[in-house]
This record gives sequence, C-alpha cells and structure tokens, in this order.
Amino acid sequence: MRHPCEEEDGRLGGDREYWRRVSFRHRDTPENNPDTPFEFTPENLKRAKAIIGNYPLGHQAAAVIPLLDLAQRQHGWLPISAMHKVGEMLSVPRMRIYEVATFYTMFNRNPVGKYHLQVCTTSPCWLRGSDDIVNCIKKKLGIDVGQTTEDKIFTLHEVECLGACVNAPMVQINDDYYEDLSVKDMEEILDDLKSGRKPKPGPRNGRYASEPLAGLTSLKEEPYGPGFKVRSDL
Ligand code: FES
Repeated sequence: MRHPCEEEDGRLGGDREYWRRVSFRHRDTPENNPDTPFEFTPENLKRAKAIIGNYPLGHQAAAVIPLLDLAQRQHGWLPISAMHKVGEMLSVPRMRIYEVATFYTMFNRNPVGKYHLQVCTTSPCWLRGSDDIVNCIKKKLGIDVGQTTEDKIFTLHEVECLGACVNAPMVQINDDYYEDLSVKDMEEILDDLKSGRKPKPGPRNGRYASEPLAGLTSLKEEPYGPGFKVRSDL
C-alpha cells in the first residue's frame, strides 16, 4: 500500500524532509543504508554488555531501547545499520527492532544537527506563543521545520506535548528543556549555542521549576500536626 504522501512513482510528495521523518518506512540513502559503518566503541560495548546484564537470561530483548539509545548517542542519530547491530547483539529479529525505532519519535532515523531543536506546538504551548518561537528559530537560522542548517549545527522539528505544559512555551534541545520562553529568550539561547556557550536549562522567567511566579498561592500554612481533628478519647 502506498504512503498517503507518496506519488505513484514512489517519490514522497509535499515536504520530503517532514515525511521522511514521520514515515515508518525506511528508504536507503547514501548516508543511511545497511552498509553504513556502525560499531559500538569499546567503551560503549562495555556499557551495552552491562545493560544487557541487567535482564534475566532469555529476556535480553528488554534491552532494545537502552541499546538503541546508546547507539544514537554514539552516532548522533540512528542509522539502520546500528539497528541491525543491536538486533544481532540481542538475538532479536530485525523487524522487532524496526518496530521500536519507528514507534518512538525520540529515535532519529535520519541525521540531525549538533543541536536538535524540538519545539512543542501542542495546544497549551501554542496558546502561549509557540508559533512565535518556531518563527523566531526559522528566521534566525534560515531553515524551515524539518531542516538542518548547512553547517550541520542546528536541526528544527515541531513535536507534540513534551510534558512541560505548565512551563509553556518550551523547546527541547538535545537532552535539555528550555521553558517559559519569550522570543527574546529563544534568540539568546541560539546566540549562546552559536558561540559555543551552554545556556542554563529550565524556566527562563526566573521562577523555580513550575512554582507560581508571584509566590505560593496554596499550602501556605504550617502543616497540621499528628492527631489533628482526631477525637481526644482515641
Ligand atoms: S503542550 Fe507543550 S509541553 Fe505540553
């Protein structure tokens, strides 16, 4: 069956990059094919063995996700040859690996830049201005959603809720969340990254985690002691 965005001749229509990312189907490319060189480094091989050792004999398949994650961290993204390597190490059929790698969008099955900018555009973030954040990044980096800058430093993607709605709008950059963003914050973050500085992750508006910005609004009293409202004869 053809993918809904696939043309009759098998090419992808519309935004090719976007559909390549969301499509479950792997397509061989010069940089991503079964012959793409991939081997775990000796250090990561040791880690992989330790991870596999966490599971009982006969249940090594449970290590698929951590090993794919390790492969992605080593390579920067997850080529199909790395999936094959993980399948081989765990004695799991390749199809079972593909099922996992295509289900979880955290696995980047195509190359991404050094900084992977994932802007949440689900309703709470959208209501708090995520469109402005996306537009700011597009303008500042000169790329569209799904694209990577020519110097391979930044890749921009829109993603669904990242579970930080209370700090909307937010962006995930590699492993870090940047929250409570304004356009100015986003510009500063990009400037920092461009000049090799690591901006401090977390809320940008000065509050701690997701606490109210203007101080506590509830649970302000001292907690009641033991026996509160319990009958005295008990
Ligand atoms: S809606 Fe953006 S983090 Fe949940």
